[in-house]
Amino acid sequence: MPSWSGGRRGGEAMTGIPGRVRIVEVGPRDGLQNEREVLPTEAKLAWIAKIADAGFTEIETGSFVRPEAVPQLADSEEIFRMLAPRAGVRYTALVPNMRGMERALLCGVRSIAVFTAASETFNRKNTNASIAQSFERFAPVLERARAEGVRARGYVSTAFYCPYEGRVTAERAVEVIVRLMDMGCEEVSVGDTIGMAVPSDLASLLSRLGDRLDLSRIALHFHDTRGTALANVYAALLAGIAVFDSSAGGLGGCPYAPGATGNLATEDLVYLLHGLGVETGVNLGRLVEATRVVEEALGRPLPSKAYQAIRLAGLPRAEA
Ligand code: HMG
Ligand code: MG
Repeated sequence: MPSWSGGRRGGEAMTGIPGRVRIVEVGPRDGLQNEREVLPTEAKLAWIAKIADAGFTEIETGSFVRPEAVPQLADSEEIFRMLAPRAGVRYTALVPNMRGMERALLCGVRSIAVFTAASETFNRKNTNASIAQSFERFAPVLERARAEGVRARGYVSTAFYCPYEGRVTAERAVEVIVRLMDMGCEEVSVGDTIGMAVPSDLASLLSRLGDRLDLSRIALHFHDTRGTALANVYAALLAGIAVFDSSAGGLGGCPYAPGATGNLATEDLVYLLHGLGVETGVNLGRLVEATRVVEEALGRPLPSKAYQAIRLAGLPRAEA
């Protein structure tokens, strides 16, 4: 059983969980791709700059899919051309195929994420390809990334449940994750795309994965559709996972996954982690300031509980 080894918020982390976690902020990509409104490029850039001010080391800022498929991110070329480089901050873009890779390279992208799924139906609806065909698409992309010294991440969507096929077995998810790593992805982010997983699903997948690869190369990507994301984070921490994707304010979703709502909110994640004594490098107050920028631009309250509580009641004393 884990036990407390120090004080909360600023003390040592609980024993049995990582002392430091890396958060990949995916709001400017996953968050915005599901918004009805298309934010102006300038508003996106202002938000991204504020996110970087809050201390994130990786921000997903664009997507080189077909612009007609995700018009919200059709300005990704301009975003990457106009992003101010910052020491220690990596800007990542989704790349679905070689055409997307060429577009990304032309505007200076140095970190890409390829994406496939553990369920066939979702992958076809999302990318017009079978899982096997997506690996064929990725082979030249990942080869080019290697040749150009571009960092490559991989995503496996519907790793637990598919909106069309239901439960996805851990064995199927593991095969896709291992294949992406074998093809050259430095890290694979495992997605609960429609927010249905619970901690026992996590335990089942992570124990099988741990037999096949080093879990330090695994990130988890939760959507909080049914309110289970933080419980899953806690279960994952106990299994030693130290990289999580989340979205400022709880924005997010996949336009090709009916019913998928926002990502795990970054404020909720940071609040939990700091409370457990886990370092993230993120300044929660600055993050809240960043989220205010996008909330105002979108003109509606964002769903993150910690964000709304902090707006109302202020920061926890140790964060102020
Ligand atoms: P396709 O239709 O199969 O492509 O697209 P194609 O090769 O048949 O080509 C058809 C036309 O599209 C051609 O143009 C291509 O040039 C063009 P035409 O000759 O007819 O004029 N085309 C492109 N144009 C610009 N950029 C490109 C590109 N590729 C082809 N990259 C594709 C396949 C995957 C590109 C398409 O289905 C697509 O864009 N899908 C959108 C998928 C998407 O963005 N989904 C959301 C992100 S994934 C996600 O959110 C899940 C995640 O968060 C994790 C989780 O939560 O689980 C990551
Ligand atoms: Mg997602």
